[in-house]
Amino acid sequence: MMAFMPDQLTLAREVISRARSIAILTGAGISAESGIGTFRDALTGLWARFKPEELATAEAFLADPKRVWEWYAWRRTTVAQALPNAGHAALAELERQSIARDADFTLITQNVDGLHHVAGSRNVVELHGNIRRVMCFDHHHQAVSWSEVGEIPPRCAQCGSMLRPDVVWFGEMLPEDALDAAMRATRSCDVFLSVGTSSVVEPAASLPLVARQAGAMVIEVNPDTTPVTAAAQISLRGTAGEILPGLLPH
Ligand code: OAD
Repeated sequence: MMAFMPDQLTLAREVISRARSIAILTGAGISAESGIGTFRDALTGLWARFKPEELATAEAFLADPKRVWEWYAWRRTTVAQALPNAGHAALAELERQSIARDADFTLITQNVDGLHHVAGSRNVVELHGNIRRVMCFDHHHQAVSWSEVGEIPPRCAQCGSMLRPDVVWFGEMLPEDALDAAMRATRSCDVFLSVGTSSVVEPAASLPLVARQAGAMVIEVNPDTTPVTAAAQISLRGTAGEILPGLLPH
């Protein structure tokens, strides 16, 4: 259920329609309406049901590579069956409209599901990698296809080391290019939209604050309050699928 004054939505839409440079940060919440569970929901969140230190660290992988590979294979299946929802579609449309009027548009995501690409978004910065890709443990050789028969995890075709998902695990650095692109867009935007993230995992959590300090208007879309709420000039309480289509210029 949406709980905000309609004029906040109108104000957000007007600000977005005039922006010269838009940066958007998305988190797991934008994919919730596509049937992909978030991480920190108290009941259904992945981290309520599984221990991240047993599944999402390099140490966990080395201790039990088969278990970690199979857990990601299960998540990959969920992602492969999911379709983008109205929230993803609205952001893809907003990018098309922004580019058409010569505004800069960058979509920064913490999600590894690739659904923004499927929805048609183009300038997407993936901060935490992509679960649809793998890379080898030793040399980070990337691959988008691998053998599903034989050894688990499969081996790298180039160097023979174990394949792992191409996602950022706890304790690992973010891909440098992605972080640079995210920081550039954040510092130079005049509107920053934070959608469906609990804003507790750094460095993504700080991006709205960086944008605000650099003078941008910060708008948050989330059913709940988060640490970003206090820094946002506009807070739209509701789901991504409910609210984002209403932000498109009429
Ligand atoms: P979280 O699970 O921490 O937060 C999801 C947020 O989405 C919460 O604030 C919810 O209130 C909100 N939400 C739920 N349903 C929504 C909906 N339909 N529309 C909009 N918002 C909704 O997920 P993230 O903030 O993305 O990192 O988590 C950040 C990182 O922590 C992830 O990228 C992952 C995880 O550990 C790595 O895997 C490296």
